[in-house]
Amino acid sequence: MEQYVIKGGRPLEGEVTIAGAKNAALGILAAAVMTDQEVTIENVPNVRDTRVLLQAIQGIGARVRYIDEHTVAICGGTINPNTDLCVDDEYIRKIRASYYLLGALLGKYNHSQVALPGGCDIGARPIDLHIKGFEALGAHVDIANGMISVEADELIGSHIYMDVISVGATINVMMAAVMANGKTTIENAAKEPHIVDVANFLNSMGANIRGAGNIKGAGTDVIRIRGVKSLHGTTYSIIPDQIEAGTFMVAAAATRGNVLIKNVIPKHLEAITSKLTDIGATVIEYDDSVRVMCNKRLKATNIKTLPYPGFPTDMQPQMAVTLALSNGTSIVTESIFENRFKYVAELSRMGAHIRVEGNTAILDGVETFTGANVAAPDLRAGAALVIAALVANDFSTVCDIKYIQRGYEKFDEKLRGLGALIEKVETDKEIQKFKLKVG
Ligand code: EPZ
Repeated sequence: MEQYVIKGGRPLEGEVTIAGAKNAALGILAAAVMTDQEVTIENVPNVRDTRVLLQAIQGIGARVRYIDEHTVAICGGTINPNTDLCVDDEYIRKIRASYYLLGALLGKYNHSQVALPGGCDIGARPIDLHIKGFEALGAHVDIANGMISVEADELIGSHIYMDVISVGATINVMMAAVMANGKTTIENAAKEPHIVDVANFLNSMGANIRGAGNIKGAGTDVIRIRGVKSLHGTTYSIIPDQIEAGTFMVAAAATRGNVLIKNVIPKHLEAITSKLTDIGATVIEYDDSVRVMCNKRLKATNIKTLPYPGFPTDMQPQMAVTLALSNGTSIVTESIFENRFKYVAELSRMGAHIRVEGNTAILDGVETFTGANVAAPDLRAGAALVIAALVANDFSTVCDIKYIQRGYEKFDEKLRGLGALIEKVETDKEIQKFKLKVG
């Protein structure tokens, strides 16, 4: 089983380049099948989730051509709409985002069928708002045998109010509406940068979506869509990954390092920059990069995760590691998901003093961590445990790194480029060899 072995206690120093945004790529790759013409997508992160989704897209008959590691051409014209357009559970069990094909195929062919989604176990992850949006557009939704089927004689534009701000439901309903007859308004829409990126991508294919803001800014909470007859091919480059960038920013601060994080949109990182600055790190913003420096113990603060532009839930575990080392007591409130403190048990084994009460964690800062053998419980918690191991002046291993590989491209390689002593290994013998090598 692949795992990371780490010898921590060294500050991260140097430069790292951020890949394309995973959560934008998953919506964009699915939306690419909505035209019969070829679509070229650049800056696609080479991570497990995008690779699985591209397999699912090939599975429904689209042609996928890998131009280079980060550029793919997709042609939905080879899909046979008379088949059942079924995305079977082989793919959806692996990644939740396969459900984006529901909205894309419904929007293009008026029907589709996808296995009910899985995804990181950070909460119940219902899809009632996706269903509400599809039904509002005139689709009939049926759930049976672990599959969700949607079909409509005709999709008619509608006014849809999202009871809860949902990234997935906003993207899925937006895709279903771009070729519906008439106008659709999505109120209380999610405003994350990746929503704006998917909207801009669809507009580059000829869609008419307004209100999703401009890419340098936040989206707005009302998205207006005028249905068009068809979409055409395009070439589009995905925005940098806000959460990968934030993860390296926090890792630089936690290890008291000095790192230039390149290929970012600083506006997307404001909530993270603000909190790191509050606790005593130095963050310098440039046009498309940020430098994070820290040479002292950080201060305590309180965090509450919120929809964009608030503090991102996907940065909560990573920031909690930094606060677990801060001078004083911090409070972290997770307001988006109901089970996103699973890293606490593992972090406590490294010496953290954290107690969880409902959706709140109380962190009494400690000076440092001890090394331990820990397991990644999910994608972002796994990244957080790697940061903790990089802080501990000790040996640690992190197993179940398949979760981390879902959303971070070349994570260990990029950390080694910043001076970290980390290797991906499979056997105890390799661990011993690493320990002898680094001493
Ligand atoms: C997306 O998940 C991201 N995943 C998540 O990132 C991210 O944490 C989340 O948005 C919030 O930003 C992808 O984009 C692939 P939601 P999603 O729908 O769309 C409730 C990562 O680490 N809800 O915005 O599933 C839901 O229970 C992953 O990269 C409903 O009630 O999240 C949650 O409490 C983890 N009904 C809240 O909304 C619905 O129909 C936000 O969920 C849908 C959601």
